[in-house]
Amino acid sequence: MTAQNIEPCGEADVYREEILDHSRQPRNKQVMIDATFKSQRRNMSCGDSMEIFVKLGEGEKVAQLTFDGVGCAISQATASMLTEEATGKTLDEIMALSERDIFELLGTEVGPARIRCAMLALETLKKGIEEYRK
Ligand code: FES
Repeated sequence: MTAQNIEPCGEADVYREEILDHSRQPRNKQVMIDATFKSQRRNMSCGDSMEIFVKLGEGEKVAQLTFDGVGCAISQATASMLTEEATGKTLDEIMALSERDIFELLGTEVGPARIRCAMLALETLKKGIEEYRK
């Protein structure tokens, strides 16, 4: 096969690579000792758990966001991407994030069997915000 015969990577391949990269080398995966608040949640369908740590800055903006826990590639990649996406956002902006936003982060929709994996990080973060505000 010559170089001319090699198909360029499709968009789906690029997203697949991005998910693999984040799951293999998660960003911001560490326990935060001085977090403003933290939250933990379990995926009831598999038993995996996620912990999210949030440090707030001025105006209730997220200054730093980290996570810890075990889970599948989708849950770890989503958590990693979410820590980058949500840093700098206000708590209200984070509460407005939806399943659609997670699909956009991942670059693909996730089937019903993996939706809980994909949503675990955001649900954990939102639960923490709700408890912090009480
Ligand atoms: Fe447990 Fe995905 S299989 S979080």
